[in-house]
Amino acid sequence: MNVQFPYAKHLQESIIEEFILESDVMRSMMKVVHEVAQYDVNVLLMGESGTGKEMLAKIIHMQSPRAGTPFVPVNCGVLSGLMFEDKLFGHEKGAFTGAIRQEKGCFEMADKGTLFLDEVSEVPLENQVDFLRVLEDFRFLRIGGSEFIDVDVRIVSATNKDFKDQVKKGLFREDLFYRLHVVPIYIPPLRERKMAIPRMVDHFLNRLATNYKKPGLQVRSEVIDIFCRYDWPGNVRELKNLLERVFIMNDDDVMAIEHLPSDFLWHFRDPPRLMDLEEVRRAAETKAILDVLYRVGGDKERAAKILRISPRTLRYKLNKYDIKVDRMGEPVAAEKGG
Ligand SMILES: Nc1ncnc2c1ncn2[C@@H]1O[C@H](COP(=O)(O)OP(=O)(O)O)[C@@H](O)[C@H]1O
Ligand SMILES: [Mg+2]
Repeated sequence: MNVQFPYAKHLQESIIEEFILESDVMRSMMKVVHEVAQYDVNVLLMGESGTGKEMLAKIIHMQSPRAGTPFVPVNCGVLSGLMFEDKLFGHEKGAFTGAIRQEKGCFEMADKGTLFLDEVSEVPLENQVDFLRVLEDFRFLRIGGSEFIDVDVRIVSATNKDFKDQVKKGLFREDLFYRLHVVPIYIPPLRERKMAIPRMVDHFLNRLATNYKKPGLQVRSEVIDIFCRYDWPGNVRELKNLLERVFIMNDDDVMAIEHLPSDFLWHFRDPPRLMDLEEVRRAAETKAILDVLYRVGGDKERAAKILRISPRTLRYKLNKYDIKVDRMGEPVAAEKGG
């Protein structure tokens, strides 16, 4: 079980400093985080994967009066039925085959602390009723147990789904949704706050230099430019991971475009050139005329017949498109081989 025990005071402060804001939207978001942290109100963090939801959940915990107590993250997306109940509420010895001793669930481990329900919109429908009851009463039975256990837990949850849509589709109970959704906090994707990218690059590279005990990298502005042109579907996590990969592989003291992996640069390959109809016609007619002239060995009369145009029109087009063939009908100069 991934219980994270109380962080030392200096770590509490550093995680807050490490969260890069760098835009008005993020600064207002952080203000809400600071305010709600003081109260045991249920917070729902909404945002795409990699936008920093888990980091914010920890910040909420550390800014709250519960700072010195456990922070317990649980991924609600991977378990269902009895396994889900077991993970959250635990079991008594002998409750089911394999239950060789009593085991606590996440709610008990988070007692006096904060329980972080990640991917909460994935709680299976069959488990939602019991779950709601526990979130209202903070008391439950371990599987196979007969004695109620009371806990004092602060709930912070997160989702990367359109939660309201899940409710509309009948995949999520409305009453449970409102229970979790008391204070919703939206974290915008990185592509909507690209002004933070330079600071993030600088920050993550400094961290990497410290962690890997390797000299830092001077980042060329062209790299920042290309980062700002990219949409980062995996958000901050994707940026962080890319930098780590480049940092490890790079033995220079600078980071330039050529140090970026080819699968990343692939996103910037030139799209097929856009042409207007005149250009399309020119390209198509040039190719057709060259093909025919080659097939008929340069005989313009025959070529015009096959193309069903007059010899005069053919001459006009040869001139207009600057098509040149030799006596055998082979394209010459620039057209050669095309
Ligand atoms: N604003 C930020 N500043 C610094 N690091 C961030 C920021 N947002 C996210 N990260 C880092 O990006 C990674 C993904 O963040 P995480 O909180 O796990 O995202 P989510 O839970 O939304 O998927 C983590 O390593 C986190 O430390
Ligand atoms: Mg996450």
